[in-house]
Amino acid sequence: MRKKIAAGNWKMNKTFGEAVELAKGIVEQNIPSDVTVVLGVPSLYLNKINGIAEANDNVFVSAQNAHQELSGAYTGETSVVMLQSIGIPYVILGHSERREYNCETPELLKHKVRTALDNGMEVIFCCGESLDIRKADNQEEYVRNQIKGSLEGLSKEDMKKVVIAYEPIWAIGTGETASPQQAQDMHRSIREYLADMFDAEVAENTAILYGGSVKPSNAEEIFGQIDVDGGLVGGASMKVDSFTEIINSFS
Ligand code: PGA
Repeated sequence: MRKKIAAGNWKMNKTFGEAVELAKGIVEQNIPSDVTVVLGVPSLYLNKINGIAEANDNVFVSAQNAHQELSGAYTGETSVVMLQSIGIPYVILGHSERREYNCETPELLKHKVRTALDNGMEVIFCCGESLDIRKADNQEEYVRNQIKGSLEGLSKEDMKKVVIAYEPIWAIGTGETASPQQAQDMHRSIREYLADMFDAEVAENTAILYGGSVKPSNAEEIFGQIDVDGGLVGGASMKVDSFTEIINSFS
């Protein structure tokens, strides 16, 4: 059975007080026992929010990025060793915003994924195409190449610690969502590709999340698709009420 995951990505939002309040509001919820909730928290607040998350066995904390090296002269960066030292279990890697604004390439992300896995972290690996690529109907090939570029060479054991988040760029923060069928088609394609790259077992067991304007009104239908194992949610994860509704949208 694949994990059902509702992951929030707070991006660069919230003051410290607001973040604490949001996390407390979420851990107070009665989360279905088969749902894993992951909070993608700004690095400055990770330690505090991780302490809050301890109050609920279904809630875990994730960094939104980590450096590819373990330590050294990289001013302003955060390493997976640092994350591990405060008990953070997850890291989001390859979000489209980081690919775009921080020039993160598939090669760099491959290095980051390797470093994170080698140091005991679980990785939420993001992929997804731009509107141009979608209009040209090249999205499946593009996303497969992103996966190949950063996950090729991992072992089956490594893949147990990898969650894939498919996030079409044209649907992120735009209010426009991929249709449930578009999400399902891509998730199916990713799963078939995992079967080619690894094997049927990896394909069957890897959780694939959809991201891009997931909200309470569409979560149930999207999560209801056979190859969709949950969501990576930005805007709607930043309010207790809307994120709770999303957490409860699994059938
Ligand atoms: P959104 O963001 O839900 O606000 O579209 C999703 C994401 O970027 O992870």
